[in-house]
Amino acid sequence: MKKANSRVEQHRVAVIDFGSQYTRLIARRLRSLGVYSEIIPYFEWNQEKKALYHAVVLSGGPSSVTQNKSPRIDIESFLGLPTLAICYGHQFLAEALGGKAGPGEPEFGRVEFELKEVHPIFKGLPQRFVVWMSHSDQVLEAPPEFKIIGKTERTPIAAMVNDQKKVLSLQFHPEVAHTENGTQIIENWLSWSGINRSWDVEEYLVMVEREIRRALSQSKKPNAKILCAVSGGVDSTTLSFVLQKFAPGRVYSVFVNHGLLRKNEEKEVIEAFQRNRLKLDYIDASKRFLKKLKGVKDPEKKRKIIGKTFIEIFEDFAKKHPDIEFLAQGTLYPDVIESGKGAGASVIKSHHNVGGLPRKLKLKLIEPFRFFFKDEVRELARKVGVPDNFVKRHPFPGPGLAIRIIGPVTEESLKVLREADSIFLEELKKWNLYDSVWQAFAVLLPVKTVGVKGDARHYGRVIVLRSVNSVDGMTADCSSLPLNFLKHVSSRITNEIPEVTRVVYDLSSKPPATIEWE
Ligand code: XMP
Repeated sequence: MKKANSRVEQHRVAVIDFGSQYTRLIARRLRSLGVYSEIIPYFEWNQEKKALYHAVVLSGGPSSVTQNKSPRIDIESFLGLPTLAICYGHQFLAEALGGKAGPGEPEFGRVEFELKEVHPIFKGLPQRFVVWMSHSDQVLEAPPEFKIIGKTERTPIAAMVNDQKKVLSLQFHPEVAHTENGTQIIENWLSWSGINRSWDVEEYLVMVEREIRRALSQSKKPNAKILCAVSGGVDSTTLSFVLQKFAPGRVYSVFVNHGLLRKNEEKEVIEAFQRNRLKLDYIDASKRFLKKLKGVKDPEKKRKIIGKTFIEIFEDFAKKHPDIEFLAQGTLYPDVIESGKGAGASVIKSHHNVGGLPRKLKLKLIEPFRFFFKDEVRELARKVGVPDNFVKRHPFPGPGLAIRIIGPVTEESLKVLREADSIFLEELKKWNLYDSVWQAFAVLLPVKTVGVKGDARHYGRVIVLRSVNSVDGMTADCSSLPLNFLKHVSSRITNEIPEVTRVVYDLSSKPPATIEWE
């Protein structure tokens, strides 16, 4: 697969998903090492797909090779491609190629791994280091032509290779941060297998342009127009920029106010587009959304209602502009995966722009970022000249404050949450902390607790402050904000918002929590 202006051929790696919780981490690690990778559920993998990739990773998974129903793929569908097999993938590979796998001594968590011989896979690594294990079965007999190159106390075949076929098979998880030298091992596997590491921002642009052209070629009309849904966040703003670049004069950028925006947000977005001389159509549909959300508690229902209402509004807009044939959205790879549209994943959250789409959408979809992670979009944004204030904005979910008000959305709740959120963000900026965290916001709980205000008992509302550090939103840690800062924010919120008596800080990481509360 050659690209027009490439220095080297771009290699692609397929991560075949057998259901591991770490599959997305493998794809992320490969991309950050400069190799384009995609996750493919094992049941969608076949010989035809093989021709599109230069190497495969067989992921881990919760199943046991001893069971008939466990996930399997045809050997011919990957044999001949450089392969990295991990955990369940390691056991599956051993069995498929004529070795044996089955119950062994379980290992969970940190385990010491020992090299059995000098090998390019372990270039630059010490003789012993700690790896992350999570298995009950193990490889009992290596397949013919495989050499065992590493072990642990309980797992004699913890790493094996086929030097001719460039297959590396590991019982441990190199993609997990707890595995010392894990990234180095993946990097060594890439070099050993001759995989080019050319995935960079130039490649992102080529891929985006190709995707836009491919989508537009579905129209018979040479001048069909695109409706680009803008929220003011980095994804949709960047999308608006790249569409103007690759399809000039064919884009309507439409900003819908769903009444769930943050304080002053609509003003800021409109002004920012004006400042950058970008045309923007603004639609205030707040009443329509709030009416539909009245009394709705269930987070999935909220998302679906919001997604559906957006689409209705876009279709109304398209009716008024009959030259519109396409709807462009800034959907990202994690949205696709978490909405259960990706690698056989379960639905974690129906991201409004994926899960809310009607079966019969009258507009054709263009989603050029659907294979991109957020950090990749940020790089792309800088490349195409998106102003820094957009690039640095914290992500804001399409369903807006509706998924930060736990329980039904009301005007009163929106008012309280907007004020609290705005105080938090204002202070983060004042204390120079805003740019050091991935995303920070306030959440409103549906409970009241006892407090005391002006010497009297006050039964008031609870605000949660949430701030996380992350690379791509798929895993996250709570930010270590200074206690003095948090106390100051809490004091401002309880002093300035009469309804609030209590402020708490969310310490959870993702997983097991998610970043948003709903
Ligand atoms: P979670 O809560 O899934 O969030 O850990 C991961 C990232 O995605 C954002 N998010 C959304 N963005 N529509 C969006 O456009 C959605 O429905 C949605 N749900 C979550 C969230 O803010 C975080 O950055």
